[in-house]
Amino acid sequence: MKESLSYDDVLLVPAYAEILPGDVSVKTRLAGELMLNIPLMSAAMDTVTEEKLAIALALEGGAGVIHRNLTPEEQGRQVAEVKRHLNWVIEAPLTVQEDQTIEAVREIMHDYGISGLPVLNGEGKLCGIITGRDLRFCTDDTLKVADVMTRDPVVVSGIPTEEIAQQKFDTFKIEKLPVIDEDHRLTGLITVKDMDKHQQFPNAATDKNGRLIVGAAVSPQDYERRLPILADARVDFVVFDVAHGDTLSVMNAVKAVKSKYDIVVIGGNVATAEGTKRLIDAGADAVKVGVGPGSICTTRVIAGIGVPQWSAVQWCAEEAVKHDIPIIADGGIKYSGDITKAIAAGASSVMLGNLFAGLREAPGREIIYDGRMFKEYRGMGSIGALKEGSGDRYSMGKNEAPVPEGIEGRVPYKGELGPFVNQLVVGLKKGMGYCGCRDIEELKRYNNFVRISAAGLAEGHTHDVFITQEAPNYSKFHLEY
Ligand code: XMP
Repeated sequence: MKESLSYDDVLLVPAYAEILPGDVSVKTRLAGELMLNIPLMSAAMDTVTEEKLAIALALEGGAGVIHRNLTPEEQGRQVAEVKRHLNWVIEAPLTVQEDQTIEAVREIMHDYGISGLPVLNGEGKLCGIITGRDLRFCTDDTLKVADVMTRDPVVVSGIPTEEIAQQKFDTFKIEKLPVIDEDHRLTGLITVKDMDKHQQFPNAATDKNGRLIVGAAVSPQDYERRLPILADARVDFVVFDVAHGDTLSVMNAVKAVKSKYDIVVIGGNVATAEGTKRLIDAGADAVKVGVGPGSICTTRVIAGIGVPQWSAVQWCAEEAVKHDIPIIADGGIKYSGDITKAIAAGASSVMLGNLFAGLREAPGREIIYDGRMFKEYRGMGSIGALKEGSGDRYSMGKNEAPVPEGIEGRVPYKGELGPFVNQLVVGLKKGMGYCGCRDIEELKRYNNFVRISAAGLAEGHTHDVFITQEAPNYSKFHLEY
């Protein structure tokens, strides 16, 4: 019988280091060509990842996966919201014609929530810009755009750099900068709002157009309906969100998506080298590992299957590395130290449910209990989530009585995502500093662990003391509940 271990069974052995934690890079490959600036993903769960959390996490450098207890249309809308949140150059900005009325302009601005529109003439060339400033003192809405717009607006031609755009904003005190080609045709629009957001979040995980990265969950049963809508919304990757990913139906679905769409596909979940290889052979760009480690999971108890997560990650990573395919360690992360352990076991990134569910941006309900604030957190295999549609994740047929593989619960409220993610990332960097690893690739190869005893685990946690001031990155909550 093979022995398998979990994060709490092992510790990394420190090593000689020539670098400080502040010098290490935590940039990583998510899947295919997609890169993240921090190795964190949020779980495709209905109390964890909707548009708000996906935006907040991508701004910090990670990526969210929008869950699929939503109609395909609503899931697509949320993906589109994330993609719209941050732009570098807006590729196809809304425009108006110079002979349209001011009334029409006001309507467009109101409907789309925008404050300025480039104006095109009859030949489709840029001839002006009309903004809220131009409209402020215009009392006659029957006037034409040409009467009110700002003519010869400041523009930038060709492929602009951020420095040139910033210079134009600073010199001319404008808020919108049209991009034109040599024929004076509009090719894009840069806004000062987007420039500010880029500067405020320099670590944001973005695609080649400067838009935030986001993923969406699909299943072998629903991918045909979801994929066209998600592709339209410009989703960056889809995740086969299935409890048992080593199945014929998942392999066939991965193959089908890879043959029809030019999209990054993450396959899962598996816990063996064989399952990892099958997903890679089917065309998966990354493999998600975790059968039963999640804090809300009861799969191991109900079905009697699973592999403790540290071993599962190591077995799967040993296979994946041969094919240069990244592993995502999904579930069972309780502290930032577990992230370091997961990556040192071979993962390229980790997926978090529990640790993110208590954040302000998570969609779960806020609950006040015993004078403290909590947020709802439930498994996608819990009765509540199954009833709302996630049954096919657990091979449940229509009209079957639910046999749950997860529970419904609550986790302590943790405040905003930004500062919390910082605690996780700095914890990881500290671990890398102790191991002398400069980047994620070095940590993935480090793999110098010791197995510890129950006494060793107890020694590692605080002991023989009452905590009088809780730290933002440590609580004994999981040991008590
Ligand atoms: P954590 O430990 O971060 O784990 O809470 C989140 C991961 O757990 C998986 N998941 C489930 N697994 N029953 C299960 O067996 C469930 O009801 C369930 N819901 C979520 C999922 O992989 C998630 O990312």
